[in-house]
Amino acid sequence: MKPEIVRSRADLRAQATAWRKDGHRIGAVPTMGALHEGHLSLVRRAAAECDKVIVTLFVNPKQFNDQNDLQKYPRTEEDDRTLLQEIGPDILYAPDVKEIYPAGFATTISVSGITDSLCGSFRPGHFDGVATVVCKLFLQTGADCAYFGEKDYQQLQVVRRMASDLDIPIDVIGCPTIREADGLAMSSRNRLLSPEGREKAVALPRALVQTAEAISRGANPQDSIEAAIGLLETSGFASVEYLELRGADDLAPITTLDRPARLLAAAKMDDVRLIDNVPVLPGT
Ligand code: PAJ
Repeated sequence: MKPEIVRSRADLRAQATAWRKDGHRIGAVPTMGALHEGHLSLVRRAAAECDKVIVTLFVNPKQFNDQNDLQKYPRTEEDDRTLLQEIGPDILYAPDVKEIYPAGFATTISVSGITDSLCGSFRPGHFDGVATVVCKLFLQTGADCAYFGEKDYQQLQVVRRMASDLDIPIDVIGCPTIREADGLAMSSRNRLLSPEGREKAVALPRALVQTAEAISRGANPQDSIEAAIGLLETSGFASVEYLELRGADDLAPITTLDRPARLLAAAKMDDVRLIDNVPVLPGT
């Protein structure tokens, strides 16, 4: 029954090479597991657009700057496989750490510029870890296209830059954020929230949507952002790491809404770090 579990690079490569020989278009969906509807939306899109689909499941130690966060990260491979069976991707590639980082591993892919701010400032080394593992997963799967969520908007831009700079022949496809009924962006981390924290967390998407609407209608971005940060703090968020307006493509800071932008935030609830972002379009 699909997906077949593959643990080794050699088996993955043999299968992907055979598919390519037969002219199949291969789609990859990189994940760290603890799958939810957000991940599944990417797998469905890949299944609709590609002949063969590889979902990868690897909790990448190199992208965790906090060891406690790595240890707490939910690991639910059996449930993940069951969820995937409803869609039927061909392979679930779930290697162990030694398969990805064998003894002597010494290479880091580092994307400069867009990683200097936002999550990059609060999670030193995080995007190096992401770029390194995603580069390896692109090469190991040999995929023609790869699906990423806009939920991790900065990550999506980092991956695009990396693939383009390194001439990796892959289409990086951004997909919309899937949300719970109350608007909270789905995340593997949501299950770490207390019931009260879960209720309060909805303040994050609400603040982002309201602020984006206000800025689109012409409100001063800085004043609107300051008000939103205050609102998050009074709604129970212990710390707001950032809430910023950036250019949609280059993530450069912007103070006037003269082009498509993105409002991005990271804040901690119950010691769980939540991130979210929404589009901000001039004159809507
Ligand atoms: P992970 O957090 O498991 O997310 C895997 C993919 O699912 C990412 O592209 C992410 O943006 C997307 N995703 C998560 N929540 C989503 C939501 N609510 N709606 C739409 N897409 C969503 O991101 C990672 O893993 C890792 O950094 C990885 C890219 C796998 C590298 O290790």
